Amino acid sequence: MKTHTIAASILSADFANLGQNINEVLLAGADWIHFDVMDNHYVPNLTIGSMVCEALRKYGIIAPIDVHLMVSPVDRLIKDFAKAGASYITIHDDATPHVEDSLRLIRSLGCKAGIAFNPSTPLNGLDKIINLVDLILLMSVNPGFGGQKFIVDTLPKLILAKELIKKHNPLILLEIDGGVKLENIKEITIAGADVLVIGTALFNSPNYRSFISEARKLCSLD
Ligand code: DX5
Ligand code: ZN
Repeated sequence: MKTHTIAASILSADFANLGQNINEVLLAGADWIHFDVMDNHYVPNLTIGSMVCEALRKYGIIAPIDVHLMVSPVDRLIKDFAKAGASYITIHDDATPHVEDSLRLIRSLGCKAGIAFNPSTPLNGLDKIINLVDLILLMSVNPGFGGQKFIVDTLPKLILAKELIKKHNPLILLEIDGGVKLENIKEITIAGADVLVIGTALFNSPNYRSFISEARKLCSLD
């Protein structure tokens, strides 16, 4: 039986009670914490830095922390987040001049490396760097804000990414980020996503546990 990973995006969490809110969502069954870092430069929004990641580790969060860097440049923050306890660090393909070097840097610091593609960015060139990544993140909204509508053109892109993964390295995880909700989970997982980032739909649901159990039932192969 294949299990999908549910990564709770803390962009929609209660920032005034972050540690507690994250514990609640993990106890309710979320697998990973998805940690969105925005710099008001690569994307038009500003969120949180590595100090918050470190604070969550000190608070006792042991679940994988999936850091999504929507920042440019990336190398300085890769070092900071590796030190702060990140598990995965994902960078955008167009956020750094030497993407191969930045991916190697992530791995050299003991973290799993991810590469992210914006909705309008084709997957050309992915085969050249695929041996340097553990995770491929497809954005299904334009990065910067939670609560946006899923862009359906991402579904054929998921299928294409999955084909590349099967050809090169089936261990690579395929992650989808943006607009994931109960209504579209089935088609997203049929298209090949392994990791579902869920922000608004999860944190706004009245009962995290029921939401996550419903989400798992909808995953095509679970
Ligand atoms: C958007 C972020 C997402 C966001 C997803 O730029 O990368 O992780 O939190 O949130 P929802 O699930 O609300 O679309
Ligand atoms: Zn994200």
